Amino acid sequence: MKHTVHLSKSTTSRRSFLRKGLAVGGAGAIGAGLFANGLPAFAEAESGGLTPGDAAILRFLSALEILETDLWQQYNELGGIQDSEVPGGSGSAAYTAALKVLDGDMDQYIHDNTEDEFTHFTFINAYLVSKGADPVNLDTFRTLPSSKATGAQDIGRLTNLMQLTVDTSYWTKYRSRTKNPDFGDTFPPAVPGLLKGQFPAIPRTDDDLKGFKAGKTPTIPDHLQAIANTAGFHFAFIEQGGTSLYPSLAQRVTHPEVLRILLSIGPTETQHFQTWQDKAGNAPPLTDPTNGLVFPELNNPPSEDTQTNLIMPEPTIFLSRKFPVVSIIRPTETKGAAMGALKALTDDGLFIGQSDEFFALLRKLAKQADAARHGG
Ligand SMILES: [Fe+2]
Ligand SMILES: [Fe+2]
Repeated sequence: MKHTVHLSKSTTSRRSFLRKGLAVGGAGAIGAGLFANGLPAFAEAESGGLTPGDAAILRFLSALEILETDLWQQYNELGGIQDSEVPGGSGSAAYTAALKVLDGDMDQYIHDNTEDEFTHFTFINAYLVSKGADPVNLDTFRTLPSSKATGAQDIGRLTNLMQLTVDTSYWTKYRSRTKNPDFGDTFPPAVPGLLKGQFPAIPRTDDDLKGFKAGKTPTIPDHLQAIANTAGFHFAFIEQGGTSLYPSLAQRVTHPEVLRILLSIGPTETQHFQTWQDKAGNAPPLTDPTNGLVFPELNNPPSEDTQTNLIMPEPTIFLSRKFPVVSIIRPTETKGAAMGALKALTDDGLFIGQSDEFFALLRKLAKQADAARHGG
């Protein structure tokens, strides 16, 4: 099942490309300081060849892609493949083994998803710079602690993977034949326990690995497996967000090339989501003895709302109930899509520990993206 990674660009070249892009920008990247003296310039005038709306949408997407990269990087350091394409960290054999219970290729998929996120923000920032617009840089907010488990780098992070409250309603949302979030419908979570507390998706310290024994059939304690299961469901949560965000925002861009960017990046989020929800279905049912978190048996009792192999979207209502049901991405409502995405990530616990300035900047970027109008 292993597949060969064809890209051979080194990370060094990718990063120097980004640095070059930032230098060309001149005015500097969007960061906390820029907002100290009021609205940034792009709110008032066209940013190079881009309309203010297109620039705002691209900036918001760049910010979210930087945040995605930060969280995927943490997963890769401990549970992925650390190589020249995605450097950093030295891996945790115990955590990697627990993830592989979901699929033998989990480390490869984590690596590839991480690399994809690097390219998403790097490309969008470079494109902004090419149009004379400011790129996004969140480096000043890399202040959250790393995992202390062996294998993780000890550096400042943008996101927190150790206190997650994971909403798994995406599971039943894509299995429903009668409901759609764009009609105001809500969906029960597949793993209710993940909404009722704060749970680690990576080992916090080596204590979380206690009882692990390596080998052909490794011994994986339930607490460690629960952490890997949490990660498995979280991977799909993150990527279903991107799956909806790109089509939602694409409805409001103006320039055909910007539309092309959104239509070309967005479906890669969907590829990720589709893979991850298939793997999450392999998470073994168990109870974490340390905190009581339950991963239920999703195929018993049998229900089409939770059946693990129903990974293709069920057809459902779209636009109006007068139309026949159709297999679609959901939601794709464009109104408030950026702020909705920011709220979902915040509710997920990813930003626990972040500063008021961080939230103020993210809210500002989301507000400007949501204010964009096609042709405006
Ligand atoms: Fe992405
Ligand atoms: Fe993604």
